[in-house]
Amino acid sequence: AKGALWGGRFSGAADSRFKLFNDSLPVDYRLVQQDITGSIAWAGALQQVGVLDELEHGSLVKALHELSESVTDEQILSSGAEDIHSFVEGALIEKVGDLGKKLHTGRSRNDQVATDLKLWCKDQGEQLIEALVRLQQQLLSLAQQEAQTVLPGYTHLQRAQPITFGHWCLAYVEMLERDLTRVKDALARLDRCPLGSGALAGTAYPVDRQALAHALGFASATANSLDAVSDRDHVVELCSAASTAMMHLSRFAEDLIFYNSGEAGFIELSDAVTSGSSLMPQKKNPDALELIRGKAGRVYGALIGILTTMKALPMAYNKDMQEDKEGLFDALDTWLACTEMATLVLDGLKVNSQRTLAAAQQGYANATELADYLVSKGMPFREAHHVVGEVVVAAIAAQKALEDFTLPELQAFSGVIQSDVFQHLTIDACLAKRDTLGGTALIQVEQALGNREAKEAVAEH
Ligand code: ARG
Repeated sequence: AKGALWGGRFSGAADSRFKLFNDSLPVDYRLVQQDITGSIAWAGALQQVGVLDELEHGSLVKALHELSESVTDEQILSSGAEDIHSFVEGALIEKVGDLGKKLHTGRSRNDQVATDLKLWCKDQGEQLIEALVRLQQQLLSLAQQEAQTVLPGYTHLQRAQPITFGHWCLAYVEMLERDLTRVKDALARLDRCPLGSGALAGTAYPVDRQALAHALGFASATANSLDAVSDRDHVVELCSAASTAMMHLSRFAEDLIFYNSGEAGFIELSDAVTSGSSLMPQKKNPDALELIRGKAGRVYGALIGILTTMKALPMAYNKDMQEDKEGLFDALDTWLACTEMATLVLDGLKVNSQRTLAAAQQGYANATELADYLVSKGMPFREAHHVVGEVVVAAIAAQKALEDFTLPELQAFSGVIQSDVFQHLTIDACLAKRDTLGGTALIQVEQALGNREAKEAVAEH
C-alpha cells in the first residue's frame, strides 16, 4: 500500500473501501500535538542510545517544532494518511528527507498511540477540572446570594420540608466535589508513560524509560510492556467519571427545568440560554437545560461502548482498540460543554423568592414540625405522627394551612397543644431547627460556605 507505514510486505493495493474503514485519521487528527510532543521525546531517547547523533537529533526536533506551529486540521484531514502517526511521520520526512525515517526506530504505533492518548487525557482532564471548579464557584456565589431564600424541599416531587435555595446550591457543590476527585483519581492512575514498550514486548534499544517518562511530564514509566500497550482503563475511568458527572448535571438540569415551569415559577431563566417556539409565541423553552439532561445519554453510551470493546480482548494490542477514541472524545467534549453551559445558565438565573416562599407555605411542609412539637410535649413520635395526619386531613378538607387553625380547633386533635404551637409552625422556625451539621439552617449553610472559603484559601497557598 503506497504511502502507508507498512507497505513493504504488500504487493496489492488496499481496497478503497477498506482504507476508508480502517483509517482513523478523521478521529485521531486531534492527537497531532500529543503525537509531536511524544515524537520529540522519543528523538531524545534515540539520541541517548546513539541511534541519532546530536546534529540529527537537532534537525528532527527543529522540524517537529515547526510542524507543531504550522500544522492545521485541514492540512491533516486532506493528507489521506491512515492515522495521525502516519501523518506526522510523513510530514517530517517531507521536511527533513531520509533522516525523518529514523524516528520510528525502536518505537511502535502501539506504544505511540497509548502515549498520545494518555497525554490527551491529561490535557483534557485539566480543562475539565477548571470547568468543574468554575461551576462550583458559580453555585457558591448563588448559594451566598440566596442563603435566606426559602424553597420547598421535595421528596417524591411532593412538597416535603422547607429548605433554602442556598442549601439546594450546596448539594450540587458536593456532587461536583466528588466529580472532581474522580477526575483527579483517574489522572493520577493514568500518569505512567507507555512509550518505550515497543509493539508489545518492550523496545530493543536501551532507552532510559523513566527519564523519557519524566521528559513527557509523566510521574513514571509503565512497568509491563504488554499491559502498557493494551491498557485502556483510563478511557473507561474517564468515561465513567463523565457518566457520573452527567448524571449529576442531568438532575441539576431537571430541578431547574421544574423550577422554571409555569406551574412552579420559582426561577426565571435568562433569554441567553432559552429559545422560543416557532408556533406558540408565549413560549420560552429551557433548551440549554434540556440538552444537558439529554446529552447524559450519549456519554453513558461511550462508557458502555468502551467496556464492551475491551471485554475479552486477547493480549496485547488489537485493532479493536482503535475504537477507543471516538467515544472518549465525544464523552469528554460533551461533559466539558455541559459543565460550561450549566455555569452560563446559573449566571443569568433569577430566583422569584415570593413564589418559592408561597410554595413552601402551602403543601403542609411544616407537618413534621407539628409532630415534633407534640413530641416536645411528651407524646411518643409514632402517636404524634398519627395525630398530625388527622390534622392534615382536616386542613385539606378545610382548604387551609395548619397554622390557620385556631388554638381550640387544634386542641380538638390533642389536649397537649398550647398557644406556643404557632411559633413552631412558621417557616423560619422549620428552617432554624435544622441546625445540625449538613442541615438547611442558615447557620449551617453559612458554615458550609465558610468551610469552602477556608478550603480554597488553603488550596491557593
Ligand atoms: N490508529 C491506531 C489506533 O488508533 C494506531 C495503532 C495502530 N497499530 C497497529 N499495529 N496497527 O489504535
